[in-house]
Amino acid sequence: MSHINAPKPLIITAIALAISLAVLPEAAQAKAGERSGKEVVDAVCAKCHASGANGAPKIGDKQAWSPREERGLGGLTQSALKGIRKMPAHGGNPALSDFEIQSAITYMVNQSGGHWTAPTNKSAKIAERTGKDVVHEQCVKCHQTGVNGAPKIGDRAAWIPRGANGMDALVRSAINGHGGMPARGGMADLTDAEMRNAVIYMFNQGITVAK
Ligand code: HEC
Ligand code: HEC
Repeated sequence: MSHINAPKPLIITAIALAISLAVLPEAAQAKAGERSGKEVVDAVCAKCHASGANGAPKIGDKQAWSPREERGLGGLTQSALKGIRKMPAHGGNPALSDFEIQSAITYMVNQSGGHWTAPTNKSAKIAERTGKDVVHEQCVKCHQTGVNGAPKIGDRAAWIPRGANGMDALVRSAINGHGGMPARGGMADLTDAEMRNAVIYMFNQGITVAK
């Protein structure tokens, strides 16, 4: 039977994998001198985003950008890296670093009514912020005193029912926002993992006895 031939494709697959693994990090390193968001947009993204070609959200068009803005920098970066419908992966320029893409998105959002702070991380990965950091930097603005009915930190009765559908549902709800709770608590650059840390931190403060 065919068992004599079986190892061949396996070896080919292994070689192909080894080659692709060897090539990838090299491609990722080829990014000396990162450009600003404006430079990247002018050089690459403006080709479609200046005129709105193929339904690209036009720079300066608040209506086109505001629903996208709500998905945060993490969400938009993901779709810009992978491509979405007629938006090519990496805006069609694979040499752009993740950071350049993020800077370009932030620039376009801010040209279109947004108020994002420019990303500052030069390396691909930012250190994940702890729940406590995030809560004290941002969430306390409303959750400390209960602004607009925000469940107060330490208020057991307010938090217990919100956890009834499980932590995943609660995190999702905080990412999407509703009522007086802004999407991502108003922090565009908050990652899903950081949001999870923050929600768990507040929830635990809520169910342990506050001092
Ligand atoms: C060849 C045309 C083209 C180029 C070049 C291009 N885009 Fe786009 N882009 C599009 C189109 C079309 C859409 C709308 C996709 C959709 O929602 O159907 C889009 C959508 C987007 C979105 C919103 C994605 C979402 O999930 O809603 C972002 C962010 C974005 N582009 C960023 C960039 C950045 C950054 C660059 C430059 C590095 C760039 N684009 C270059 C065509 C382009
Ligand atoms: C501008 C005020 C404001 C900020 C800032 C804010 N929240 Fe909220 N949050 C609210 C309000 C108001 C509600 C109650 C919304 C409702 O249930 O109608 C809420 C509700 C929530 C809930 C419960 C959601 C649910 O489905 O019951 C979670 C979880 C939450 N916030 C997490 C956070 C986290 C984490 C941060 C910081 C990253 C944050 N919030 C920042 C105002 C805010």
